[in-house]
Amino acid sequence: MEIKHAEFVISNTDVKKCPESNLPEYAFIGRSNVGKSSLINMLTNNNKLAMTSQMPGKTQLINHFLINNDWHLVDLPGYGFARRGKDGREEIKRIIEDYILEREQLINLYVLVDSRHTPQKIDHEFMDWLGENNVPFTIIMTKADKMSRLQLSKKVEAYKNALLETWEELPTIFVSSSTNRMGKEEILDHIEKITLSLKENS
Ligand code: GTP
Ligand code: MG
Repeated sequence: MEIKHAEFVISNTDVKKCPESNLPEYAFIGRSNVGKSSLINMLTNNNKLAMTSQMPGKTQLINHFLINNDWHLVDLPGYGFARRGKDGREEIKRIIEDYILEREQLINLYVLVDSRHTPQKIDHEFMDWLGENNVPFTIIMTKADKMSRLQLSKKVEAYKNALLETWEELPTIFVSSSTNRMGKEEILDHIEKITLSLKENS
């Protein structure tokens, strides 16, 4: 799928104020600074669509974007950002959890992790929580351009093995780079396939 049209719809902190619509929705989540907003800009060929920053904690709201007049893409705030303080972290956690548990249009969540790191406790706990709540998700390992191909494939293997220490099955895992556009087709095809299957079954 090629994204021909992407427009910002609304930002808010309240799942009840998200767009009233029957369009399927795909959301991007992960730790602050992992590259959620950059990935969204890369996927939509629009460097100004989602606000990015070198300072973690840039995205503080649930941001809806309408794609090809056919589905919504959602940029969520990063979790676990220390400098926000305990109250700030709790507030973001509440926004994220309400959105994930209450938003009926949400079809799949893309959980971004930094490909350079070993599995982080906060990501693992978050994905465990998704599993407990039966929320379908896919992992995207970001910033792949920061490593050689060999290093990258070793990191991906190590990440899978670490997950398999506690999980029986692995979710789908993609590797991406917002700088060299790695992963773009795979991620967009994944979304397209799910959206088509929803249409066929409706
Ligand atoms: P919050 O909104 O704060 O949660 O962060 P975010 O996850 O949206 O991250 P953002 O897209 O703002 O990117 C954070 C920083 O990482 C920026 O300086 C980006 O330029 C950089 N970055 C993001 N993706 C990539 C990538 O694929 N490769 C490289 N080299 N840098 C990246
Ligand atoms: Mg962001």
